[in-house]
Amino acid sequence: MKKIKLGFVGAGFNGQIGHLDSFKKIKNCDFVALAEDRDKLRNLVKKKYKFKKAYKSHYELLKNEKKLDGVIIVTKRNMTAPIAYDFIKNNFNVFTEKPMAASFMQAKKLVKLSNKKKVLYKIGYNKIFDPVVWKAKKLFDNQKITKDLGRIIMVKSHRLSGSGYPKQPNYIDTNEKNKKSEPFWPSAPSWMNKKYFKDYEKYLNLYSHNINMIRFFLGDELTVKSANLNDNYISSVLLNYKKSIPVLLTTGFFTKEGWDDYLQIFYENGYLKINFPPQHISGKSTDFLFHRVNVGKKNIIYKSNKTWSFDLQAKSFIKDLELNKIKYNEGSDILKDMLLVENIWKKYIYEQNR
Ligand SMILES: NC(=O)c1ccc[n+]([C@@H]2O[C@H](COP(=O)([O-])OP(=O)(O)OC[C@H]3O[C@@H](n4cnc5c(N)ncnc54)[C@H](O)[C@@H]3O)[C@@H](O)[C@H]2O)c1
Repeated sequence: MKKIKLGFVGAGFNGQIGHLDSFKKIKNCDFVALAEDRDKLRNLVKKKYKFKKAYKSHYELLKNEKKLDGVIIVTKRNMTAPIAYDFIKNNFNVFTEKPMAASFMQAKKLVKLSNKKKVLYKIGYNKIFDPVVWKAKKLFDNQKITKDLGRIIMVKSHRLSGSGYPKQPNYIDTNEKNKKSEPFWPSAPSWMNKKYFKDYEKYLNLYSHNINMIRFFLGDELTVKSANLNDNYISSVLLNYKKSIPVLLTTGFFTKEGWDDYLQIFYENGYLKINFPPQHISGKSTDFLFHRVNVGKKNIIYKSNKTWSFDLQAKSFIKDLELNKIKYNEGSDILKDMLLVENIWKKYIYEQNR
């Protein structure tokens, strides 16, 4: 089996838990080079994951490593896009955490460059790689199964969440200051007034997961009908699917421990509801209920916690590298998520200032 030579930038919390751990489980991954700014952390992570080389900055890695099959970038959000840009410019295949950038224009610049350079560019929306989500999508796509249920009449995507992280996560934490702050690109679109930046960043970071999941099921025929994001507690957005089917997106914060995250697709005679637990807490499974009793069929209930989405996401990137083609969450596809988020904010700001 051909070894896949990997480089990693960033070995913080999610870099370790969501990525290094998952790629390490794949037999033919060769951990060639790590870039991590924090000295103690870099040394400990290099040892634990058996990296051949470790560098303090991604620039050093770029200068010294020319033969990597792919680079995984997991850094602070406003640093993700410029670091991805540096690697794509130097002809590397790249996988980054979400969000891919802070605006549609930034994202477009990255996608354009990746097309010009003919490199692979994938974004980490891990939730679609959950095996329960796959199974639900298969049912959703199977017209023989769904035809009894009638037309889709409404879709609801809902996330009221708390922290979602384990109390004592199992990763190397050296307590060194996480002070690296460059290179960075602006954290919001250039057309946006500064007063919206903080809320926009939060929305893009947390709820682009919902947008990605909605598009995974429904595809591209989505437009923004209205947006109310000014409530400090709950935001509500109304999208239109195929011009007339309402897609309601309600999001916000619960108590710290609270969690209620689901996608529900309503048919005339039933529904498909997928519940998502906090994904960084192990042992909790995504599940779905396909409610069909109204048409005289048994409900289908499914859950599985045999594997988690981050592991399957890592496998998917390795497969992409082997086949030299990205199957899911390619940069050019995630660009559409970015456009939808930005259009939600344009609608909200327009409605506010009318
Ligand atoms: N998919 C999810 O559910 C999910 C969950 C949490 C976080 N995330 C994403 O993960 C990212 C944050 O990950 P994290 O929690 O590991 O961040 P972090 O800030 O804890 O770690 C980033 C690490 O990168 C290092 N670093 C930054 N720039 C560097 C450079 N140029 N060269 C070398 N080292 C550099 C820093 O020293 C730091 O240790 C964000 O993009 C966030 O959106 C995704």
